[in-house]
Amino acid sequence: MRYLTLAALLIGACSTFTTALADIAIQNPDSRNAIVLDGRWDTIIDPYENGYYNHRYEESDKGYFKNAKPLNPSDLVEYDFSRSPKLNVPGDWNTQDEKLFLYEGTIWYHRDFDIGKKVDQTYAVYFGAVNYHATVYLNGKKVDTHEGGFTPFQFDITDQVKSGVNSLVVKVDNHRERDQIPTVNTDWWNYGGITRSVKVLLYPKAHIQDYFLQLSETEEGVLEGWVKVENVAKENAEAQKVELRIPELNVTQKISLNKNGEGRFAVAAKPVLWSPESPKLYSVDLHYMQDVVHDKVGFRSIQVQGENILLNGKSIFLRGISIHEESPLHAGRAWSEEDARVLLTWAKELGCNFVRLAHYPHNEAMLRVADQMGLLVWSEIPVYWTVLFNNPTVYNKAETQLEEMIARDKNRASIIMWSMANETPSSSARLKFISNLAQKARELDPTRLITAALDTQSDENGAKAIDDPLSSIVDVIGVNSYCGWYSATPASCANLKWISRYKKPVIMSEFGADALQGLHGEKAQRWTEEYQADVYLNNLAMIDHMTFLRGMSPWILKDFRSPRRPLPGVQDFWNRKGLISDKGIKKKSWHILHDYYMKKTVD
Ligand code: GCU
Repeated sequence: MRYLTLAALLIGACSTFTTALADIAIQNPDSRNAIVLDGRWDTIIDPYENGYYNHRYEESDKGYFKNAKPLNPSDLVEYDFSRSPKLNVPGDWNTQDEKLFLYEGTIWYHRDFDIGKKVDQTYAVYFGAVNYHATVYLNGKKVDTHEGGFTPFQFDITDQVKSGVNSLVVKVDNHRERDQIPTVNTDWWNYGGITRSVKVLLYPKAHIQDYFLQLSETEEGVLEGWVKVENVAKENAEAQKVELRIPELNVTQKISLNKNGEGRFAVAAKPVLWSPESPKLYSVDLHYMQDVVHDKVGFRSIQVQGENILLNGKSIFLRGISIHEESPLHAGRAWSEEDARVLLTWAKELGCNFVRLAHYPHNEAMLRVADQMGLLVWSEIPVYWTVLFNNPTVYNKAETQLEEMIARDKNRASIIMWSMANETPSSSARLKFISNLAQKARELDPTRLITAALDTQSDENGAKAIDDPLSSIVDVIGVNSYCGWYSATPASCANLKWISRYKKPVIMSEFGADALQGLHGEKAQRWTEEYQADVYLNNLAMIDHMTFLRGMSPWILKDFRSPRRPLPGVQDFWNRKGLISDKGIKKKSWHILHDYYMKKTVD
């Protein structure tokens, strides 16, 4: 295959090497050798953090992380993991034990794993996600900590791990603080625990740490990208190259590495472009010395042009639905491929080509299944409502979650938009905060669109005006509007005028109403399926007049848990805006939106 002149093509075209960021988890851990630690873990519920602090509230060196056992009958050890309750990992603790349903605080997790240690291997303990704050210990010693409940992290344990039995302890704390991301109030359940898979990864010291590949944005028929090797071996020429193989495209390409183990490439190839109608994925293999990584990647381009969103150069309307990461098969957080397949099959059945994954990065299985099924994705970091925008530490937390999200999912064709925030109050501090995030996202990944879900105001004539200053920062403007539920009557929505002062694509990122499935009555009676249906009918009529609208993701696919929804006999800690109930039963509005999308598909 003809190797095109690198320099000519690459300067500035591709994204920044995300691996420059500390602690960023290795790319594509599922393709690595691993000891999977999912299963039943010992747990100690510790509301007073007695396993961490001594009675002087100083960090104790005799904490539960020691996993101590009485050696003599007179020894005083006031905890014992082996005789303590067990919880499933992955899994939130709230839905595994009635008494933990409302629990917010610390729970200690423990399990042993056994390995035969090899000298030339790197050992890393990898977590898909832990909500919210994780302190990881191995064999009684602290390894490191991570903050943020929805992105992966890993720690190198090569020096600490030993042959034989190793004791892994994780202090998980999900108590809410004002200076966190998200902050103290969210309209979703603060599920605590080790909510996604845990693995001990094993790979050669010199290994492929990260890579990115996509269609060139500037050259027709060209794929470009980069690869990053950790501990690049110096000994011979072979060690200075990574080999990229895409068999179906007849691509076999050597990529030269610089002294930092970084290499950029551009190769001529004409892939079938990935789209919802034909979600074509290619097997992509990267070889470096003993290290081999296998991936499945789709190639597509996504751009904006005036008020249009162009997928592979063609204008597209995003027929979407919003989704929270709750399992359709069991209570609590979703984490498995099966959860993802059911949720996304429901979205496809509804007639969707797009899903808004709210309000935080969902598990990796969700994106890989979206790649396979052909669903375009809006992925978001939980900069939600009233975050402390003038606090630099809070900004760093948000930026870290952004980096971790982009690092993990940058090779997923399904993701077309990175969302920086949801319904944040306008202020100069907020504008600066989110503008900086948007700039960071563009540095890390210039190949995707930047968006955010904005509130809207009514102007003096009662028209809905899109005039949030953040609209000038994003590529696509998301607007949340609850006409007929939080304001106005459903009937008034159909003729509601919308004004956009920006020549940009707009997505109605949220609209909807609560309905208890099975509750029927007059359409003016709240909480009935008829009221919700009336809201949908009138909002869809309103949407038909919004000439600049290029997509929508009504709120929401399925009823979900929320601590802000106590209404007895109706909500009972469920947000009932789902088109499908918590028991998986379709409501009237499901059919209204389905028919609307079927019609839109043929238009
Ligand atoms: C908000 C918010 C959602 C919330 C929804 C609602 O717009 O973005 O997180 O669940 O409205 O009130 O139901």
